[in-house]
Amino acid sequence: MQLTDHKVRELRSQFPALARQANGREAVFLDGPAGTQVPSSVIDAIGHYLKTCNANCHGAFDTSVESDRLLDSAHQGVADFLGATDKDCIAFGPNMTTMTLALSRAIGRSWKQGDEMVLSGLEHDANFTPWMLAAEDAGATVRIADVHADDCTLNIDDLQSKINERTRLVAVGCASNASGSVNPVAEICSMAREVGALSFLDAVHYAPHDLIDVERFGCDFLACSAYKFFGPHVGILYGRRELLESIVPYKLRPSPNELPGRWMTGTQNHECIMGTLAAVDYIAQLGKDLQATATNRRDSLIAAYSAIRAYERELCDVLLDGLAEIDAIKVWGITDPSNRANRLPTVSVTHSRMSPKQLAKRLNDAGIFAWHGNYYALPLTERIGVEPDGMVRLGLVHYNTREEVEYLLSVLAAI
Ligand SMILES: Cc1ncc(COP(=O)(O)O)c(C=O)c1O
Repeated sequence: MQLTDHKVRELRSQFPALARQANGREAVFLDGPAGTQVPSSVIDAIGHYLKTCNANCHGAFDTSVESDRLLDSAHQGVADFLGATDKDCIAFGPNMTTMTLALSRAIGRSWKQGDEMVLSGLEHDANFTPWMLAAEDAGATVRIADVHADDCTLNIDDLQSKINERTRLVAVGCASNASGSVNPVAEICSMAREVGALSFLDAVHYAPHDLIDVERFGCDFLACSAYKFFGPHVGILYGRRELLESIVPYKLRPSPNELPGRWMTGTQNHECIMGTLAAVDYIAQLGKDLQATATNRRDSLIAAYSAIRAYERELCDVLLDGLAEIDAIKVWGITDPSNRANRLPTVSVTHSRMSPKQLAKRLNDAGIFAWHGNYYALPLTERIGVEPDGMVRLGLVHYNTREEVEYLLSVLAAI
């Protein structure tokens, strides 16, 4: 049930990009939160679709019929990935941002003056500005739940105090793409439900690290992006059937009114939707390898995430303990060992004598790839006062190794 070093090495060999050399060694990819690398099975699935049945939907000829069948299997695969029982409640699109903008336009049609939206200060801007703009158009009010600036976690009491009978929507992330803090989303969705408000979850950052379960979360909507969980650039939107059927999307007249096509405007990126299914199946296979008794895709995914979670926590402990020894480095997020279960292995830091960009360049010189800036988590970076330079994000996923983390720490210590 465990991800051993041996198993991680075997998994890494499935990712061609990880063989890249930098500074005379294998490059260290710590840029996962901005987009993970992909296994060969994903690349092959994209090529296979284009080679064998590249066609538009709902035709009467062979390749179109075959393509429809394959795409339908991708809706099922992603439904399994999200823990959704109804595959038609899964819509694909270009990316999470575009899909959230489209949904916010559609939901916002019914808002009016006096209505309130509750957002969080921990968000990526894609789960912030779309709702702000829709509220502004409707003359509705936006209330923003504060964060604890000391450890970059959401202030749940403040969030609760802002939810009332006027609240129409509560939109929060499952986890911050900047600080790695995980939100108690089931609790938050239940707060929304109690006052009759809708809940929208941004699971983009959470998806490569832990199991998404829309039933357990109790959310009305959830969005994520396949390129963050070892797949290609495809956005995913889940919604409860009655909402997806009753809310009127902005769409063209000839396009389907039925689910899921109702929320999938224009011609889709079919090949990458098949790559998305392959990414889900890559994770499921990992689970099956570790737990032979997992007989279906969902059970395999549960097993996979249980192992990924435990492995990533160990790596994150090594990273946080090591960073604590380096005086010049400040970590923006949870460091307290007793609270680390509430964070993902995404660690943002600043250096006392170097700008984030300078630090990222020094890491690059050592063959370590990491992002600097605000990674669009502008509500948070403004709140904690790290604009305009931002931070450096050290993002671990399950293909990273303890040896890589130790190398990173040695490079940081030397700097
Ligand atoms: C937490 C989070 N939400 C939303 C997004 C936006 O996703 P997309 O690039 O699919 O629009 C990102 C991308 O970095 C993200 O990290």
